Amino acid sequence: MGIQVIFFLFLLFSIKYAAENNCPSSYCANSSFSIHFPFWLESQQSPNCESPGFNLSCNYQGTTVLDLPYSGQFFVGYISYYIGQIQLTDPNNCLPRRLMSLNLSSSPFMAVSYQNYTFLSCPRNQATGFTALTTAIDCLSNSTTRILATQYQSEVMRLYMCKKIITLPVPVSYLYEHGLPLKLELTWNVSSFNNPVGASNHQSVFRIITVSFLSLALIVPALIICLVCCICMMRRENHRGGDTIPTSAEAALLMNVAAGLDESMIESYKKVTIGESRRIPGPNGITCTICLADYGPKEIVKLMPECEHCFHVECIDKRLRTSSNCPIYRNSPVTLTNL
Ligand SMILES: *[C@@H]1O[C@H](CO)[C@@H](O)[C@H](O)[C@H]1NC(C)=O
Ligand SMILES: *[C@@H]1O[C@H](CO)[C@@H](O)[C@H](O)[C@H]1NC(C)=O
Ligand SMILES: *[C@@H]1O[C@H](CO)[C@@H](O)[C@H](O)[C@H]1NC(C)=O
Ligand SMILES: *[C@@H]1O[C@H](CO)[C@@H](O)[C@H](O)[C@H]1NC(C)=O
Ligand SMILES: *[C@@H]1O[C@H](CO)[C@@H](O)[C@H](O)[C@H]1NC(C)=O
Ligand SMILES: *[C@@H]1O[C@H](CO)[C@@H](O)[C@H](O)[C@H]1NC(C)=O
Repeated sequence: MGIQVIFFLFLLFSIKYAAENNCPSSYCANSSFSIHFPFWLESQQSPNCESPGFNLSCNYQGTTVLDLPYSGQFFVGYISYYIGQIQLTDPNNCLPRRLMSLNLSSSPFMAVSYQNYTFLSCPRNQATGFTALTTAIDCLSNSTTRILATQYQSEVMRLYMCKKIITLPVPVSYLYEHGLPLKLELTWNVSSFNNPVGASNHQSVFRIITVSFLSLALIVPALIICLVCCICMMRRENHRGGDTIPTSAEAALLMNVAAGLDESMIESYKKVTIGESRRIPGPNGITCTICLADYGPKEIVKLMPECEHCFHVECIDKRLRTSSNCPIYRNSPVTLTNL
């Protein structure tokens, strides 16, 4: 199972390697995420990788910068290539101002969803303490005027002497909350930019196939070696099994094939003479199960040491010469002592 997983990962990596080699991955010094297809750094141009609108640059602080055609520069907080999402912040830390003039036309980016917000200008002494309905925008407020954003324009304006500035749709993310978003999260169409290797790019397809086959050529012999090793190890395990303590099933098997006892051992077993009352010792019935005859007074029985099953001496002695098992308990003193 592990081998298949390794093999699969290897294949995945080789495909990823081939793809990345086609459109190089890079970084801005002060950003934790990599820049790769469909994004590209203007300083590292490479044909076939220049998706229009996805050009990024690094500023002198090593921050990744995106320039939206009609909205200007944003800092990039992260890029999620898998779901196709980019998080943007305002270099001047006043995103609401940027949201008020955001225009995404001519850019490949879209809002996940929109929510209408009204921006209000309220006298500072009035507009305090109604944060449940509004978001105060400190970077646009001054000592006399507070700027607010709200989805509940009519309620807020009924309560306070606010002036409406503008109502506009604001992009909100999947994790949309009531307040004005603190970060701008935009998406792009992953299905139209999901593969750096276009069908027309035969060279890249060829490279992927080559790398895949190379990895196959490496993996298959490794797989065979692993398999051979596994079989060898399993065999060795089986061999060693003979020396180790047998399992209960193995012990039972050994007991059944246990050989007969020698005369001294047979002689050592406890003998009991049945009394006039014909009381039989131990867990025994009135019939000897070997010779199928009832015990009579004065008859001598022999008790098996482990289970105390008894039999007529003549019957059990004959049997013990060929097999040490108790015919009832199927137990053997020999195998027990050997264990
Ligand atoms: C991306 O390219 C466009 C047009 O070539 C340019 O106006 C813009 O500044 C570039 N973006 C960045 C972040 O440099
Ligand atoms: C990295 O970015 C942070 C904030 O964006 C900045 O304060 C810091 O100076 C930057 N580091 C370097 C080495 O430029
Ligand atoms: C975005 O800007 C373009 C170019 O200036 C303009 O034609 C378009 O109407 C603007 N869109 C919005 C929603 O303002
Ligand atoms: C925002 O307001 C406009 C105009 O009133 C309306 O057409 C649109 O459906 C609203 N959008 C949302 C998300 O409520
Ligand atoms: C505060 O801002 C408002 C408009 O936003 C402006 O009319 C007013 O003059 C400003 N006041 C001060 C003291 O800057
Ligand atoms: C994304 O791109 C695919 C392929 O180009 C297209 O079929 C689909 O309609 C696009 N989706 C959106 C939301 O634009």
